[in-house]
Amino acid sequence: MTMEHTQHVSVMPDEVLEYLQPRPGGLYIDGTLGGGGHTAALLERSAPDGKVLGIDTDTQALARVGERLAEFVASGRLVLAHGNFSDLERIVAETGFGAGRAIQGILLDLGFSSDQMDNPERGFAFSSDGPLDMRLDQTAPLTAADLVNGVSEQELADIFWRYGEETRSRPIARRIVRAREKGAITRTAQLANLIAAGVPHKPGAIHPATRAFQALRIAVNRELERLETVLPQIVNVLEREKMSDGGGMGAGRMVIIAFHSLEDRIVKEFIRREAKDCICPPRLPVCVCGHKARLRNLTNKPVTPGEQEIARNPRARSAKLRAAEIAIDS
Ligand SMILES: C[S@@+](CC[C@H](N)C(=O)[O-])C[C@H]1O[C@@H](n2cnc3c(N)ncnc32)[C@H](O)[C@@H]1O
Repeated sequence: MTMEHTQHVSVMPDEVLEYLQPRPGGLYIDGTLGGGGHTAALLERSAPDGKVLGIDTDTQALARVGERLAEFVASGRLVLAHGNFSDLERIVAETGFGAGRAIQGILLDLGFSSDQMDNPERGFAFSSDGPLDMRLDQTAPLTAADLVNGVSEQELADIFWRYGEETRSRPIARRIVRAREKGAITRTAQLANLIAAGVPHKPGAIHPATRAFQALRIAVNRELERLETVLPQIVNVLEREKMSDGGGMGAGRMVIIAFHSLEDRIVKEFIRREAKDCICPPRLPVCVCGHKARLRNLTNKPVTPGEQEIARNPRARSAKLRAAEIAIDS
């Protein structure tokens, strides 16, 4: 397999295009480049001169897309940047993307790609053995093995409970701590077997290690914290639209696809809050906060994939898409 092949199937591509409405000359940011599927669609729809800034924290993903979409990189329509989307404003400034012009749309398709999941060496999967790594960014210092072997039993239980909503968080943490006294836990299969030991795996139910693995991945990559950090930056970047009148392109839009309730809740609450003119507690008779709506919510309920898409791409089943646009003062 050459580098340019991706195993990742983009989730809800039609819905992403429907909400971002890419058009010629538009400027778009894909904060989670992955296999480059959404980016390729944005480039196609914004031809002949629309541009995309593609960001990923994973150097392998960037190299793969760099090969796959080399012609767009060469023509200057695709700019690739290695970095974390939690540094969005800095990355936009440093790349000079759009040269201060309005950005029409920003996409985040959260979590990890099939290219990462299906490569045992990356350590995300409990179904195949590999090093206990789970870093989306291979240059980051902390691995899942560091957490599993390094933090206290209480901290481990908290991670499983908070990020995995794992009801067996305490017994799992206890078992891990007992096992690591005999030697470090370094492999995914070793950890998955420890977690699953003694728990019946019912047909049709998720694997007993699913929640604990999700929790470790979220903790290693500080996923929730980074999502909270990027959301206001997305609005700041899109508000450049207002300053430069958007060049007649309409209000800038954001689309975010989440894959579990913890992420989706953060996105939902952020959009709801930023779409309100007043965020005072309801008991106050008059507004004292002075908050002004910065967003208009485009999806009161999250958009979810249809049955056909789920049949074609089972990994899409938990996806929830939310979209909003910059509120233009009337
Ligand atoms: C679900 S995949 C995106 C797939 C992509 N939309 C496509 O169509 O191929 C998520 C990607 O986002 C990257 N990622 C996750 N969190 C990130 C973050 N905080 N900053 C930058 N990239 C991140 C992952 O490395 C992964 O490549």
